[in-house]
Amino acid sequence: MNIIDIINKKRNNLELSREELEFAFNGYSNKTVEDYQMSSLLMAICIRGMSDREIFDLVDIFIKSGETLDLSGIEGVKVDKHSTGGVGDKTTLVIAPILASLGIKVAKMSGRGLGHTGGTIDKLEAIPNFKVNLTKDEFLKELEDIGMVVSSQTDSLVPLDKVIYALRDVTATVESIPLIAVSIMSKKIASGADKILIDIKVGKGALIKNRNDANVLKDLMIRIGSFYGKEVKCLISNMDMPLGFCVGNALEVAEAIAILDGKVKNNLYNLCIEIAMNMVSMANSISLMEARKKVVGAIESGEAYKKFMEFISYQNGDINNMLISNNKMEIKSLKSGVIKSIDALKVGEVSLHLGSGRVKKDDKIDYGVGVFLNKTVGDRVAVNDTLCTLYYNKVKDDFGIIEAFEIE
Ligand code: URA
Repeated sequence: MNIIDIINKKRNNLELSREELEFAFNGYSNKTVEDYQMSSLLMAICIRGMSDREIFDLVDIFIKSGETLDLSGIEGVKVDKHSTGGVGDKTTLVIAPILASLGIKVAKMSGRGLGHTGGTIDKLEAIPNFKVNLTKDEFLKELEDIGMVVSSQTDSLVPLDKVIYALRDVTATVESIPLIAVSIMSKKIASGADKILIDIKVGKGALIKNRNDANVLKDLMIRIGSFYGKEVKCLISNMDMPLGFCVGNALEVAEAIAILDGKVKNNLYNLCIEIAMNMVSMANSISLMEARKKVVGAIESGEAYKKFMEFISYQNGDINNMLISNNKMEIKSLKSGVIKSIDALKVGEVSLHLGSGRVKKDDKIDYGVGVFLNKTVGDRVAVNDTLCTLYYNKVKDDFGIIEAFEIE
């Protein structure tokens, strides 16, 4: 067997055998297959797609590249969630405490930001001293003690995804439905939860640009889940505009707290309620209406907020000393009218350039910078009204963010 024949076969739209997939992907891990060869194979997969059989084999190869987490020793139903990535998406910070306050165990391994999309682990690191790297034992103990845990993915869990994802990120092969499904489902299955909710983002600021592709991805992930005996539910949610009012790490943590404290009811609040009620309904086998009542009740009673604070202190975080930059730049409207849209991709890119994300793998994040949307879609604005506020430190530039606002 050799890698050139395998690339050729996929380029010619032929199905690869399990042995060929193992040869290529395990070879890449073992460094017997080069970056440029794997890049070429990934591009061929991107263009030609994969059969269900190839996808199922690749999920299995990914899972077997590392360890899996066994949560069976922990009592109760364990649930997990995943988002395909967006701008301003801090749903995990809101949903996990809601569920844990309702007695449903949430075991979550999260990732860092990629490109213009943010990652939960970067957001949590905006909280001084917050510990994101937990050992397996620490992870399980926290789940047992307080009913929830969010940590960064350990190196031993699906290590193949780490190296393949990094390569996809720089070879324009991120947006392949089979590769997205393999990446997400291998991690979710290896993480050990019984029930999994996946929020598929569609729109300008998302990896998936249209509903048709989202539906294909949804059906595929459900089929993979059921093969492994996991209940998988997918929601499809819009990512044309940012989620919530805040983009940038500390700003997003502050917004998650405001939602849990019942002080903000925006598109983020609505999506959190929707995801949480679906997870509660799956976990407790109750109707969506009953689940919704419980979820809203957890916020109104203050129990979800309390659970969030318990979680932050359990992982050593010092929430009272989280810093949001004092340097602010207000962006004023040049015309009057109604806001028709706010481009999530543009807002995400501006926040990234202010320093909230990484352009290169080793860049240091500035946790206190980002974008606050003073106005949202549907709002009427007059000339000189503040559309958004940029929080900056080292980089003082508006990066043309006004173009993100479509006003008619
Ligand atoms: N999220 C993942 O974990 N993997 C992908 O490929 C895309 C989104």
